[in-house]
Amino acid sequence: MGRLTVETSILIAQEPCKVCQSRLGLGVSNMKLRPIEGKVKRLYNADYAKNYRVSDSDEYGSPSFNEYRNILQYYTSINETNQVLDLGCGTGRYFSCLENTIYLLGIDISLPMLLEAKKPISKDKITITQIDLLCASIFGLHLPSGKFDMVYSFGVLGEHSPFTSEICEAVFNTLKANGIFFFTVVDIDSKRIKRSLKRRMIDLIYPICPAAIQNMIDAGISHYMTFEKLENIMVNSSFREFDITRRVENSHGWSGAHFNCIAKKKE
Ligand SMILES: C[S@@+](CC[C@H](N)C(=O)[O-])C[C@H]1O[C@@H](n2cnc3c(N)ncnc32)[C@H](O)[C@@H]1O
Repeated sequence: MGRLTVETSILIAQEPCKVCQSRLGLGVSNMKLRPIEGKVKRLYNADYAKNYRVSDSDEYGSPSFNEYRNILQYYTSINETNQVLDLGCGTGRYFSCLENTIYLLGIDISLPMLLEAKKPISKDKITITQIDLLCASIFGLHLPSGKFDMVYSFGVLGEHSPFTSEICEAVFNTLKANGIFFFTVVDIDSKRIKRSLKRRMIDLIYPICPAAIQNMIDAGISHYMTFEKLENIMVNSSFREFDITRRVENSHGWSGAHFNCIAKKKE
C-alpha cells in the first residue's frame, strides 16, 4: 500500500495563514501563543531537535517503542485507507509504524523538530502516501469534523502541554466513527518525590482559578497527572470506551511512568 517516496511538505502556520490552513481543512484561529507554548518552543530549539533526532535511533526497538509501534500497526491495519493525525509529532519517530495510511498530518509547535521530521527514522520503511507537517500549537486549531481514523500523541499531553477536556473533545470531534485516540500522559505519582508542597497546593486550586491565572500557572509548571484526574476527564468526555494502562520507563535519562490511554469513538 502506498508509494515508497514520501511527499513531505512543511506548512508554516505560526502566523495565521489562510492558504495552508484551508488546504489542510483546518479552521483559522488567531494562533496567539500562550506562555506555556512559548516555553515549549524555546525548549525545542534547533540543537535540542538535532539531539532528539539522534535519540530516535536509541529509542528504536526499545520496549516502549515496540509497544507503541505494535498498537499503531494493529489499529492502522484494520482499515485499508487511514487518515491519521499525530499531535506533537516531533521528529516523526513513529511515522514508519503506520500501516495502510494514505494521509498523515503531523502538528508540532517547534519548527526545528519538524525540519528533522522531513528525514524521520526508517524513512525507507514509510509507506504513507502523503505527509503534511504543520507548525502550530495543537491548542487553538479548529480541526475538521469526522476526518481522521486515528489520532495519536506521545510525550506531549499531560507532559509539556496540559491534557484538558477541551483537547479531548476536539480529538473526539475530528475522529471518524470507530476512530481511535491513543495518547500518553506522565503519571505524577511516579515523580512524586520531586513534587513539592507548593505544587500540590497549586494542583488543588488550579480547577477553580480564572483562565488568566491558569495560563500563568501553566507557564511555570509541568502538566503531569494523577490516574484519577485522567480518568475523570475521560469519563466525562464523549468517548464511551477507553482503557488506561501504566508503563514504567527507565531509559536514556528519563525515569518515571506513563499512562497509556486508548479511546474509541463509538458509532
Ligand atoms: C517529547 S517530544 C515528543 C515527540 C514525538 N511525539 C515522539 O514521541 O517522539 C514533545 C513534542 O511535543 C511538542 N509540543 C509540546 N506542546 C505542544 C503544543 N501545545 N502544540 C504542538 N506541539 C507541542 C514539542 O514541540 C515536541 O516536539
